[in-house]
Order: sequence, then C-alpha cells, then structure tokens
Amino acid sequence: MTKIIAANWKMNKSASQAEKFVRKLKKVDIENNVIIFPSFIALPAVSSVLGRESCGAQDSFYEASGAHTGEISPEMIKEVADYVIIGHSERRACGETDDILNKKVKACSDAGLKIIFCVGEQEGEDRRTTLKSQISHGLSGTDALTDFIVIAYEPVWAIGTGKTPSTDEISEAVKYIKSLYSCEVLYGGSVNADNAEEILKTCDGVLVGSASLDLQQFLKIARS
Ligand code: PGA
Repeated sequence: MTKIIAANWKMNKSASQAEKFVRKLKKVDIENNVIIFPSFIALPAVSSVLGRESCGAQDSFYEASGAHTGEISPEMIKEVADYVIIGHSERRACGETDDILNKKVKACSDAGLKIIFCVGEQEGEDRRTTLKSQISHGLSGTDALTDFIVIAYEPVWAIGTGKTPSTDEISEAVKYIKSLYSCEVLYGGSVNADNAEEILKTCDGVLVGSASLDLQQFLKIARS
C-alpha cells in the first residue's frame, strides 16, 4: 500500500542545495507518496522541480494578508505547495497554543492546503491525555475528509534523539489517534533507514527529519 513519506528539512538546505537534491530525487522511481518540506525560501525552487503536489511548507500564518511582518499566508503557500505542517513541536515550543494552531488549521484548510497536524507527548507526560487534548483543541471544528487532515504522531522525546517508541507502542498510539479522529496517521521521531520498514508497518507513513537530509538514506526510507 502506498505510504506517505514526508521530509521535514527544518532550517536546512539553501534554495540551490534544495534544488540539487530534488533534481536527483526526481530521477528515482518511488512508489510511495514523497512530500518535501523545505524552508520557505527554498520552496519555489523545489516546487518548480517536483510540482506543487509533492511539496509543503513547514508552517503557515492564519491571516490571508496584512501587517504581519515576517509571516507567510496559506494563499501564498498554495501557489507553490499543496501541503503544510501545522503544530510541529518545535513551533509549539515557540509559544504556539492550541488556539493559534486551530486558527492555522482552519485558515490553511480554507485555502485548500492539505494539512499534516503534529501531536505528541513530552517525556513523562501521559500519552493518551496529551493526544486527546492536542487533537480535541487543535482540530476542533474540522473534519479529516473535507479538510484533508493527516495527523503525525511525534513523541517530543523521540525527535532528534535517536530514541523511538517500540513498534507496539506506535501501533497503540496510532489506533488511539484514529479512535479520536478518523484520518491517516504518520509516525515521526528518529525515523531512519534502519527502522523505517518496521515502523511503516504500524502507520500510514512517516515524517522524517534529519535522516531526510541525506539523499541515500532518504531514498532507503522512501523505498521501504
Ligand atoms: P527527526 O525529526 O527525524 O530528526 O527526529 C522528526 C521531526 O521533527 O519531524
């Protein structure tokens, strides 16, 4: 079954580096649905090579236009990308509340963007309590089908640490998320070329950070 393989490049790769990477990526046959999330400044270059349908933004503001220095609107993103990540833990850590995230989700959906909404517990937090709260607040008033929302389960303690939950724990979390919100569920947090195949058996795809920066490693994951 086709899986979603999403590459979150975070604040890595300039526009020219990003373009070089995706030119090479494009030459490879991959059955899975690969989506690249470069920095905003590299997004047009990546989109011109791969097409809008394989690109996404790492964040969006919730207003369509106006006096919001430094922000990017959903409508601007839609010109070059079909996807957007909302609620990544690194953005939540910058002070993005459930209310802000809910506004972003609704604005992006209204602009026709497909949303990857990130949720996940911090070390020591009760997983189910956190997931329930983040999903009920962040996705309040939305519907996965009409709004095109995918949830990425990313335990904060697994991001960039080399630690992952067991596949049983991931399966359990994915099932729980689906019981709360009927949508496809990805896993993210220290996914690499060695663990991707096993992890992909438990979910509908993966959101990959550091291991997506290296072409050979990313190709192994994408072909898992
Ligand atoms: P990582 O990041 O793969 O480097 O752990 C994942 C993410 O933050 O989405």
